[in-house]
Amino acid sequence: MKKNILAPIKYLRSADFSLSFKKWRQKMASKLPLCHYLMRRRYAPEVEHLEVETFGMRFPSCIGLAAGYDCNGTLIDAMEAMGFGFVEIGAITPKEQHNAKRASLYKLKNDKAILNCADIDSDGVERVIENIKQRKSRIIVGCNLAKNSTTSDDDAPRDYLRLFRPLYQYADYFTINICLNSTDKPYVPSDKEQIMAILQPLFEFRRGQNQYRPLLLKISPDLSDEQIDMMADIMIDTPLDGIVACGGTVGRHGLDNSSEIIHKIGRRPGAVYGSPLKHRALEVVKRIYARAKGTYPIIGCGGVASAEDALEMLHAGATLIQLSTEFIYGGGKSMRNIRLGLDEQLGQEKASHVEQE
Ligand SMILES: Cc1cc2nc3c(=O)[nH]c(=O)nc-3n(C[C@H](O)[C@H](O)[C@H](O)COP(=O)(O)O)c2cc1C
Repeated sequence: MKKNILAPIKYLRSADFSLSFKKWRQKMASKLPLCHYLMRRRYAPEVEHLEVETFGMRFPSCIGLAAGYDCNGTLIDAMEAMGFGFVEIGAITPKEQHNAKRASLYKLKNDKAILNCADIDSDGVERVIENIKQRKSRIIVGCNLAKNSTTSDDDAPRDYLRLFRPLYQYADYFTINICLNSTDKPYVPSDKEQIMAILQPLFEFRRGQNQYRPLLLKISPDLSDEQIDMMADIMIDTPLDGIVACGGTVGRHGLDNSSEIIHKIGRRPGAVYGSPLKHRALEVVKRIYARAKGTYPIIGCGGVASAEDALEMLHAGATLIQLSTEFIYGGGKSMRNIRLGLDEQLGQEKASHVEQE
């Protein structure tokens, strides 16, 4: 029994604590102009081929930071210095909510994956707005919105609107997160009425505003192919601007080399991110791209860990890419490699197109 209680603490040290410390260092360093400049020089070398125009905005790089890393918008400037082309902050909840203090994040190193058994950790919308106001860089910022875990599923649409209204003028785009599956009380609405009940009030509010903010839906990789098609149809039939595919999976496939840790953690509910997601994320992106005939932007997310993976995601139909797990494992060095590698590969592709013409 004692062993079971202590086991997660070993992994807590290697995940929750070291991650918080890393974020604190990144935040502090980016506040000092000289450090910010040096970070940029080290991690964000000049590139030529990563720029993308989509959603009516110019993204200096198609590689962005996925939600879940900068939960409260305190790392926006640091992430710009790390070379990301855009940052999705959150998930943000209307009211502050924090996790009970117990091991909740596990690095499954042998499978280059992360198991997250924690609920969303958010300082609440008001605090996040204060943080966004303090940022210095002009990097594109998306806000990832989620309901509070104490809000019933029926009241969820009200929570999304409660976030959308006050954040509207501070975000460049919004992601409606309907893949809340890291706890034993998952919220993954998958029928059209439920989803439209969330989206409709947001569309209505946006209609009354002077400025346009793109709205995206972040979906679960565990949906069936028919449900994925339904999500694509919602995008085609409504003013929804795009889809983020995907969030974490509740499945445990692809964790063949982590059985010892999985056994120690026990049967805790939680979401898996990283390499095991890659195959399904590519399938989902391809499926949405085909269904929408390539006419809508898709943000491809899940298991991107190298320049080759990023290129594969673009070839599957993604317009932009997000990553999280690889950044948690490899930090700025890994970002630099992906940035330079993808730039080189896209440069080669462009050159061979020109030759063929
Ligand atoms: C620790 C952690 C927390 C996350 N929290 C959120 C979240 O709050 N909202 C969300 O939409 N996705 C969240 N995600 C999912 C990521 O945004 C992303 O969809 C997923 O990790 C797949 O990308 P990756 O394989 O590059 O990590 C989280 C991921 C991690 C690793």
